Amino acid sequence: MTGQAPVVLALETSCDETAVALLDGAGRVLSSRIASQEDAHRLFGGVVPEIAARAHLTNLPPLLDAALAGVDAVAATAGPGLVGALLVGLSEGKGLALGLGVPFVPVNHIEGHALSPFLPSDGGAAAPVPEEFAALVVSGGHTHVFAFSGGRIERLARTRDDAAGEAFDKVAKMAGLGYPGGPAVDRLARRGAAGRPFAVAQFKDGSRDFSFSGLKTAVRERLGELGRAPAPGGSGGAALREEDAPRELCDLMADVEEAIVAQLLDRLSKLHVEKRLGVLSVSGGVAANTLVRERIPAWGRSRGVDVRVAARALTGDTAVMIAFAGLGRLVAGRFGEGLGAIARSRWPLETLE
Ligand code: KG4
Ligand code: ZN
Repeated sequence: MTGQAPVVLALETSCDETAVALLDGAGRVLSSRIASQEDAHRLFGGVVPEIAARAHLTNLPPLLDAALAGVDAVAATAGPGLVGALLVGLSEGKGLALGLGVPFVPVNHIEGHALSPFLPSDGGAAAPVPEEFAALVVSGGHTHVFAFSGGRIERLARTRDDAAGEAFDKVAKMAGLGYPGGPAVDRLARRGAAGRPFAVAQFKDGSRDFSFSGLKTAVRERLGELGRAPAPGGSGGAALREEDAPRELCDLMADVEEAIVAQLLDRLSKLHVEKRLGVLSVSGGVAANTLVRERIPAWGRSRGVDVRVAARALTGDTAVMIAFAGLGRLVAGRFGEGLGAIARSRWPLETLE
């Protein structure tokens, strides 16, 4: 056996990345392999579930060629995600666990993201996961704040409409920037300067929930002013090469990024006043965003909140985060449904035992 036991093999196939990782008991990455399907979906401007499931089937076996010897447990994402896609990794994971005669740990994808900031970027040993911490998970499908306390997970806020990553993706699509849009908006924003702030959505009921659908409408109007609005009824603008983006569009993308970060900080500030956040983990695809990585830690320093942002390489959908969440559950003896786990398109984290 390499490293420190128990060695966990994990499979992640919830959306459009096929990923396999091997982690030792200290959280050191022994192996991490990802096959991206971006090219297969780009043509359609988004993830096509059926194509994702088929691509996982083809991509998984070569990724698993890595040595299976020395594996003490197998973990796989059981949800939330695309059911057809989840089924591929979940079934393969169960089969491997049965074949190897080791425990099987079904993992919630969001728990994987929430814990990912405790993994170092250099593959060294993981930081101890605090008994209590808050987690901001911002991805293409999720914008949530959770409170972790011992074994209990409480949801403090969620999005009422679009996820933060979805807002980035939809804005990029309207601007003709293609899929996935978040990284393109990030790059353009670096070339521009924010100057015309968008309003931060608020709920009359005082809820701490997020809402990004209004931003989309406001951006459509601003694109209209620049003569770049998508055709009426359409969601995609005329294709634009990033290098051809005019200054005003870069400025607009900087305003969009500011608006998304402003809303995240608005909600975090309110939650901090109410709950006194001690440690805050920030994870998910949007945690790769340059402004998110600057502003949330700066906010934390000014409020005395210990902010841990996931290493950039661990912000997307990796099997490393699934292995780490699986390891935690294995060590705690909390396997949930084990081999009886089913693939779930929805699987609220706060319902986990
Ligand atoms: O966690 P993830 O890989 O998949 C989900 O579980 O959803 O997140 C993907 C999301 C996409 O919406 C993508 O546009 C966004 O993360 N994203 C970014 C950046 N990199 C990825 N958004 C803003 N800025 C980025 N640099
Ligand atoms: Zn994800």
